[in-house]
Amino acid sequence: MNEENSELPRIAKYKPYYYELKKDRAYNWCSCGLSQRQPFCDGSHQGTGFEPIRYIAREEGEEVLFCGCKHSADKPFCDGEHNNLLDVYESDDPESEANRRIPLVEERIEGRANLDGECYVTNIDEIPYQEQGNMNWSALATSGTGARHQAQFYFRVANGESPVTAFGDSHTVLLASHGTGKITISGREFDLVPKMGIYIRPGEAFSIRNNNDDEIRLYVSVGPVRDRPDFLEEMPTNFNSDHPTRTVAFEPGKSEPMADRTFQMLVDKTVGSDLVTQFIGDIPLSKAAPHRHLYEEVLIILTGEGMMWTENAKAPVKGGDFLFLPRKQEHSLQCTNPEGMLVVGVIYPGDNPSINY
Ligand code: FES
Repeated sequence: MNEENSELPRIAKYKPYYYELKKDRAYNWCSCGLSQRQPFCDGSHQGTGFEPIRYIAREEGEEVLFCGCKHSADKPFCDGEHNNLLDVYESDDPESEANRRIPLVEERIEGRANLDGECYVTNIDEIPYQEQGNMNWSALATSGTGARHQAQFYFRVANGESPVTAFGDSHTVLLASHGTGKITISGREFDLVPKMGIYIRPGEAFSIRNNNDDEIRLYVSVGPVRDRPDFLEEMPTNFNSDHPTRTVAFEPGKSEPMADRTFQMLVDKTVGSDLVTQFIGDIPLSKAAPHRHLYEEVLIILTGEGMMWTENAKAPVKGGDFLFLPRKQEHSLQCTNPEGMLVVGVIYPGDNPSINY
């Protein structure tokens, strides 16, 4: 809001406007919300104290989301604030006539149910594994399955010390789903507990120590995409001490509200991760309204059950499943469990999981 103006802007739309811009062209974004040419200024702000904000496109085809609610702190762009202007996260009726016509995907290929636009749901009990030392690992998302920004792997580590693992110059973000132990990152050791986010910087390596009989299970996100891990002969000692904090535990009391949902950031800029962001969120009994993102996203269902929907397909999801969502693919996640659903998301490139359109 304009500092001199005590009035709030009019909310033009509870969603941003997607545009592909022309290089060097100036765009006058409407800040007052009164324009009839949203999201651009038509002069209606005269006498209100609001002024349009001018943005000059930096490159041809630059993709932007212009704020529609006019409450963003990152004007003229969306920062997700529209979600907080509503008491309830925008939802959709799964029993509507149109939704009833959307068919269920029955077929699974290596545990994967393919939905529209290279979106898919993978059941981790049905995937093929490869063995490396005391570890079984599987690729859940690679360039071969349509991943363009982030790959995803699943590690199951038995008792003992895992192989030393690295992903070259990519960022690696881990989510421990089961088991407790230790993780060594390029020579520096940390405790490892379930629902913990862990960040490995480009060029570093890691190994897992499991002193128990139960497996330690981890979802491993890697961006930019790498199609398989490298296994090293020995642990390097190149831990980057400029960023000493690498593990973030899930603490429900620290969750932030987003309408009637809550989420907690795990791996983000506070631990030195600029390109990849990991968060954990609580989804109540509901079906989100169909929406899209400009970032590539993976979702890991930790607990609960539901349905993943795209325009013309849907597939059931449950605790342990992995969901891949390409950029700009319309989708919606439904929770059918009265106790809700605990979900971990990883977005790349991006730092704000509440920006959708
Ligand atoms: S019409 Fe809204 S800022 Fe000009």
